[in-house]
Amino acid sequence: MKITKRPNILLTGTPGVGKTTLGKELAQRTGMAYINIGDLAQEGQLFDGFDEDYQCPVLDEDRVVDELEDKMADGGVIVDYHGCDFFPERWFHIVFVLRTDNTNLYSRLESRGYTGKKLQDNVQCEIFQTIYEEAMEAYKEDMVHQLPSNQPEDLESNMERIVEWLHQWVLDNN
Ligand SMILES: Nc1ncnc2c1ncn2[C@@H]1O[C@H](COP(=O)(O)OP(=O)(O)OP(=O)(O)O)[C@@H](O)[C@H]1O
Ligand SMILES: [Mg+2]
Repeated sequence: MKITKRPNILLTGTPGVGKTTLGKELAQRTGMAYINIGDLAQEGQLFDGFDEDYQCPVLDEDRVVDELEDKMADGGVIVDYHGCDFFPERWFHIVFVLRTDNTNLYSRLESRGYTGKKLQDNVQCEIFQTIYEEAMEAYKEDMVHQLPSNQPEDLESNMERIVEWLHQWVLDNN
């Protein structure tokens, strides 16, 4: 039996932009696997030290990469994480950076209970387009696409755009 080849998709962006919302919905609609790096690290305790500033454990990037290597080789995986420069470039066929307007992001993070430095740093990360620049450095520029993620209609149009790209990729690569 011939197995259909499928691409791997990276969803990245500042915390709160909507990666998980989009990723889970996309996985449901396409049958692709969905991997949330934060959850994966939590489950496998893939941490290396503790960040006193942010009061959170530090991701052990090498162990995360080792853990995922086989699964990524199979294809058909959606990866969700607020960073992107430690994954092997060869893993992904396309990278989406979700973007949210400051005021929108501020209220989302605030209603999540973020305050003070944590709230400010995350909003600033979005203003300085830190993750977009990280992605543009880590991957070929024509693989990196920004997606607006401000309102529910954006979720729908982002889904449609990705599903369309996916169908074309599968046609072109099988
Ligand atoms: N397109 C959208 N329009 C309006 N609200 C959205 C949209 N996408 C996500 N949200 C809302 O924004 C909040 C954050 O979304 P989500 O948890 O998916 O972000 P995230 O990027 O996964 O964050 P983190 O990196 O911290 O895990 C949620 O309350 C979600 O309902
Ligand atoms: Mg998330």
